[in-house]
Amino acid sequence: MSTYETMPFHLETERLILRPWAESDAAEFCALLSERGKGTPTVEHIRTSIAELLTATASTGIALLPVQRRDEGDFIGYCGLIIGRSTLEEPEIAYELFQRVHGRGYATEAARAVLDAAGATGRNRLWATVGAWNAPSLRVLEKLGFERDHVSTEDSGEVVWLTRSLP
Ligand SMILES: CC(C)(COP(=O)(O)OP(=O)(O)OC[C@H]1O[C@@H](n2cnc3c(N)ncnc32)[C@H](O)[C@@H]1OP(=O)(O)O)[C@@H](O)C(=O)NCCC(=O)NCCS
Repeated sequence: MSTYETMPFHLETERLILRPWAESDAAEFCALLSERGKGTPTVEHIRTSIAELLTATASTGIALLPVQRRDEGDFIGYCGLIIGRSTLEEPEIAYELFQRVHGRGYATEAARAVLDAAGATGRNRLWATVGAWNAPSLRVLEKLGFERDHVSTEDSGEVVWLTRSLP
């Protein structure tokens, strides 16, 4: 049993809204994952993934949330908390946005809202694990006040572990 509050699932920033998954996100989520360049998952597979995310959230109280632009109303990616390589007590922050919207500060803006939401659950610390090659993501984390802790080696390469205390 977690002793932490459930994280809020509706977050708003100046330009963005983070909100719960809807069935209608499946096609866009599919397009987002296709940008990883490892093939296109079927929409059916994506529906299953969304259902799994919702099931995980029901038991953990933490979530990856779709990120939507306020003005355009479009789905541009996701941001939130996952157990990932860490723990429910000290989860990881995670984010992924469509290439067409990169470089406009959206990841940093969404992640700041998630940091606040993580603090509101009563947690003291978050982690992030990032491929050592991933300069944009490392830059986002630096802007958010994460500090490098250690590096691990996986089959896919070096993984940088960063951590940030929550106020
Ligand atoms: C990581 C990611 C979410 C960043 O999204 P974003 O909205 O472009 O991020 P921001 O605009 O908030 O910040 C990006 C920063 O990286 C910098 N940056 C971009 N490319 C860079 C590069 N090749 N080298 C160094 N810095 C770089 C930008 O200049 C910006 O920093 P600045 O504000 O100081 O100028 C996006 O690149 C992405 O979705 N990548 C694929 C998925 C992924 O890697 N997720 C993270 C897994 S740990």
